Amino acid sequence: MNVYTSDVIIVGSGLAGLMAAELLSFHKNVIIVTKSEIEHSNSMLAQGGIAAVIDNEDDWRDHFLDTIRAGCYYNSEDATELLVKQGAYMIEKLEALGIQFDKNKDGKYVLGQEGAHMKRRILHAGGDATGKELTSKLISRVKQHVPIHAHVDAIDLIVDNNRCIGVMCIDENQQVVQYFAKHIVLATGGAGQLYSVTSNDSSITGDGMALAYRAGARLADMEFVQFHPTMLVKDEKGAGLVSEAVRGEGARLVTEDGKLLMEDKHELGDLAPRDVVAREIYQKVSQKQKVFLDIRSIKHFEKKFPSVTNLCRKAGIHIEKGLIPIAPGAHFVMGGVETNAQGRTSLNGLYAIGEVANTGVHGANRLASNSLLEGIVFANELAQTIVHAKENVLKPRMSPNVSSIKNYSHPLPTKNEIQAIMSNYVGIVRTKENLLQAMRWYELYKPLIQSKQYYELTSEEHTIRNMLTVGYLITASALCRKESRGSHFRTDFPLSNECWLNQTVYCSINKNGPFTLSKKDFVSNFVI
Ligand code: SIN
Repeated sequence: MNVYTSDVIIVGSGLAGLMAAELLSFHKNVIIVTKSEIEHSNSMLAQGGIAAVIDNEDDWRDHFLDTIRAGCYYNSEDATELLVKQGAYMIEKLEALGIQFDKNKDGKYVLGQEGAHMKRRILHAGGDATGKELTSKLISRVKQHVPIHAHVDAIDLIVDNNRCIGVMCIDENQQVVQYFAKHIVLATGGAGQLYSVTSNDSSITGDGMALAYRAGARLADMEFVQFHPTMLVKDEKGAGLVSEAVRGEGARLVTEDGKLLMEDKHELGDLAPRDVVAREIYQKVSQKQKVFLDIRSIKHFEKKFPSVTNLCRKAGIHIEKGLIPIAPGAHFVMGGVETNAQGRTSLNGLYAIGEVANTGVHGANRLASNSLLEGIVFANELAQTIVHAKENVLKPRMSPNVSSIKNYSHPLPTKNEIQAIMSNYVGIVRTKENLLQAMRWYELYKPLIQSKQYYELTSEEHTIRNMLTVGYLITASALCRKESRGSHFRTDFPLSNECWLNQTVYCSINKNGPFTLSKKDFVSNFVI
């Protein structure tokens, strides 16, 4: 069996993981482990930009307010303050690494507008290809000094004496490989592939969340899954994202009979928070009506939105006609592995950054273009923490699980079946009956979901196990939260309830199912 040791192992190669690798590699030995090509990540696909307070007319307090209003006041205020205050500093840091943000002829940043932002504060690089610009630049830097192990699937964390000391993986030849490090960082992204229509890369199947859960780390807020209102649709299937920046430039949502969809629905109209817009579109789509983005008022659309133009061309949609067919799709999980602002999880030695983590900055609904910002801000916080950490001596020790490999003989569901359950029963509009129906289905797989046991499975089967685990946690958490808030909407509890504002739904394998605690009562035990 191949065994590697290092100071830091980073699992995942999106913006957060790459940024952490870049910053840590001057001080520590780092290895990146990633399940497909390094270029495959949600960050690479990100069309939005980075929200940052750059303009003299803007203020971190305004960005803070927009973030917590979109998050339905459920955000961690401390973490959110840190996020928005670091914006301008992190943009400078990215520029020092060679990233060029779009500027006008006078050399001023071109600042875009997206849903629920009261000010224009979104920076782009390469128009609507910001994610690609950022990640490609970081990949070219990181490749020079960090070993990247691609096509290596992380399947379980190795825990010894309540400390995470490594990651068990299988390589492309289905051979087990073990990685040991003083610091294990999850940067695996979210779980969009649990749903049939999603903006996420095909590799984004909730793996980091499932690994952390099985290892005994605490997860929080899993009921909050954001649906982006405007996924391009072709033959009822998702065909890529149409950035909210398109509405920021004046596009309007219209029904098939030409009516303005968001008229009189919200004071911000087409730029209302995503959960509000997604539910309005969902109502129409579930009545078998079509919804379009009317882009006729946008001059030089192709130049401004080259990625959207390409996606439309690939899908055979003629943007010259000015109407792009859209529907909502799973986009971002606000919940995840609970961390403090430095990325520490409740399990010693284990860290999480980016979408896999739950720092509390997004509350019940993420504000547009705050996710790339989150990735770089918390990667920076994490890097500083690890660089200054008092280090334990690393004692690689074979995972006890490996010595007791079990076979799992029951048939597993397909990805499509999981996606159908999540889309039909745990989607944009939830009912108690539907959630219970999904729970009964997940019960069939409970032994696999609730077990720390290492099973001998193929890569594909490990992915299915992870999808089942995360789907179950989202469903159980959604049943637990008896109110509607942000992205979590239940027909049986259609309103927000003050009592739930301070309640968090946590998930821990050690407690066998979700449990709620008041934020105030919760005593954090983040230790290194
Ligand atoms: C978008 O461009 O609409 C997506 C950006 C984001 O989700 O932050």
